[in-house]
Amino acid sequence: MAYETIVVEHEDHVATIKLNRPDALNALNSRLLGELTQALREADANDKVRCVILTGSSKAFAAGADIKEMSQKSFVDMYLSDFFGSEHDAIARVRKPIIAAVAGYALGGGCELAMMCDFIIAADTAKFGQPEINLGVIAGIGGTQRLTRLVGKAKSMDMHLTGRFMDAQEAERAGLVSRVVPAKNLMEEAQSAAQKIAERSMLTTMAVKEAVNRAEETSLAEGIRFERRLFHALFSTEDQKEGMAAFLEKREAQFRDR
Ligand code: CAA
Repeated sequence: MAYETIVVEHEDHVATIKLNRPDALNALNSRLLGELTQALREADANDKVRCVILTGSSKAFAAGADIKEMSQKSFVDMYLSDFFGSEHDAIARVRKPIIAAVAGYALGGGCELAMMCDFIIAADTAKFGQPEINLGVIAGIGGTQRLTRLVGKAKSMDMHLTGRFMDAQEAERAGLVSRVVPAKNLMEEAQSAAQKIAERSMLTTMAVKEAVNRAEETSLAEGIRFERRLFHALFSTEDQKEGMAAFLEKREAQFRDR
């Protein structure tokens, strides 16, 4: 399908979705979020795709929700359309892993979108922020919740209340991103991580994603019970037999998603 605001490319078993509104620093308007959710749905349904990379340009992953599109909206407009609610839910429902490869600005909705991915690899040029306070609003796609869970209350309050930006090194120290690499290596690093994920059994990959995400939603006791059930369930798969046999026979496992 031809998109206007994103570019989708496939390499081996990895789909790369590039946000592509260069004139607006990839600001998230309804069209872009609609196309993004459609592309993610397609990737999730495509058996050939085993991992997704979401990225932007060297200047901006995304500079937030589109302020031009929002500026004249009323409470009634926002509430009745449940602004970005269905897009948020659609992205959160994707079962395959999504890596955010972030260079440049990831602000407001851009930071929130990166945090909705399963982990973030940052270029050393990345800048994260929740500057909505400067616009007389607050984060609206999960920023107050996800940033607080990732970096703790003190840093999250600091970011949301002052609107300051966090550079890549601070973001890594704080636990917002999993690795920082030189900007020129960003896509290579993301592709190599995605490739590693793609080589594993999709059953275990999806189980990991479900179980880790539970940690944010439930109590420790419930989360551990959930993890144990999934762990037990994986012993009904051929891939568990193959993975363990391959280890014992000192060879590479050949997973078949069975
Ligand atoms: N929405 C719409 N357009 C945006 C935009 C946004 N969030 N961010 C940047 N742009 C546009 C600018 O208007 C400008 O367009 P024109 O050339 O037509 O004027 C173009 O992108 C380039 O931007 P700048 O000239 O401002 O570039 P800069 O390098 O001087 O500054 C920046 C870069 C610091 C990121 C600055 O653009 C900026 O502060 N952007 C807004 C960031 C922001 O407030 N994000 C939060 C949005 S609200 C939100 O996201 C709510 C939510 O949680 C759902």
